[in-house]
Amino acid sequence: MAKLTVSDLDLEGKKVLMRVDFNVPIKDGVIGDDNRIQAALPTIKFVLDHKGKAILFSHLGRIKKEEDKKGLSLRPVAERLSNLLNKPVTFVPVTEGQQLEDAINKLTDGSVLLVENTRYEDVVNGEYVKRESGNDPKLGEYWASLGDEYINDAFGTAHRQHASNVGIAEAMHKSGKPVAAGFLMEKEIQFLGEAVNNPQRPFVAILGGAKVSDKIGVIDNLLSKADKIIIGGGMTYTFYAAKGIKVGDSLVEKDKIDVAKSILEKGGNKIVLPSDNVVAKSFNNDAEHKVVEGDIDDGWMALDIGPKSIDEFEKVLKDAKTVVWNGPMGVFEMSNFAQGTLKVGEFLGSLTDATTIVGGGDSTAAVKQLGVADKLTHISTGGGASLQYLEGKTLPGIAAIDNK
Ligand code: 3PG
Repeated sequence: MAKLTVSDLDLEGKKVLMRVDFNVPIKDGVIGDDNRIQAALPTIKFVLDHKGKAILFSHLGRIKKEEDKKGLSLRPVAERLSNLLNKPVTFVPVTEGQQLEDAINKLTDGSVLLVENTRYEDVVNGEYVKRESGNDPKLGEYWASLGDEYINDAFGTAHRQHASNVGIAEAMHKSGKPVAAGFLMEKEIQFLGEAVNNPQRPFVAILGGAKVSDKIGVIDNLLSKADKIIIGGGMTYTFYAAKGIKVGDSLVEKDKIDVAKSILEKGGNKIVLPSDNVVAKSFNNDAEHKVVEGDIDDGWMALDIGPKSIDEFEKVLKDAKTVVWNGPMGVFEMSNFAQGTLKVGEFLGSLTDATTIVGGGDSTAAVKQLGVADKLTHISTGGGASLQYLEGKTLPGIAAIDNK
């Protein structure tokens, strides 16, 4: 069902509470990748251009004790946001109380304020009370009382049921105030939702990453929806073990071999596994390595898919109209084992007639590091959230947004 969106709201002069996902890597006060901040800009700018007063909430990292707060302040994000918007951003170093309320009351139309890390509320007076991440209804009600409208643009957090995305939305509902999706949320739902529920065919899913256990839900859900499922990365070798192919010292989840067997039985020729691999003597970029087909001898571990597999994967992908990719094909962080991920990424980038979607933290990092991100249709800002979406789960953050 279509969700209410920011463009349905009357924003002028309104106190617009906005949940964004500014959970970005910060080291010694310096932001690494600011993609999530950039991704929230269209909605923030829209609110400001329409003379709303934007009051932004986000979490950053995880806070379990008082000391964790140090280093997890959103202050550096406020500075970066101010540079990106080219206008001042009022940063409020608290998450509740008079100081926050005064700052909100001082906002003029078209100005923006960032509240301190919502997870500061998880530790109060030194105690781990999880007010934010335990969805304390009082906290949601308090935050909701600060504004007239609420926009959720934090797709990356949509799989959480926290006070700043679900509690606040429920409290807004109770007081008859609107709860809408931002443009980023809308775009993520559109791309991932279309791919999973109404894909242009052929629809091919590429699933990689180290563990089968992380992807069982996704494979299960996509088995009935995708035309082909390509498997690569570390989880390949649990499937090899299930097929009786020798894996040498490669990563295998022994307790998931039976699950892999049943997936192979259910999937039949829908499942495409690599036929050759780059194997190494140890988990090290400089380790001796070679390409082998089929069985992997003891003393060798597979760290990437091989050239023949890349060709075979490209044959499956060349006619695809929808591709969803989650998880790298090998240890792309090491240059000698990055070819599989790089070639798959480059090939996807060359598919001009297909919608190509990347979801999941590792695959997103891979396409960026390898320089192919710009050629793909949609790079999801969600890690866990996009995975759960692909599993077909209802995400509480999305469910809490008003339907039109
Ligand atoms: C993410 O990075 O996946 C989201 O921001 C959610 O963060 P969390 O896993 O700490 O809840």
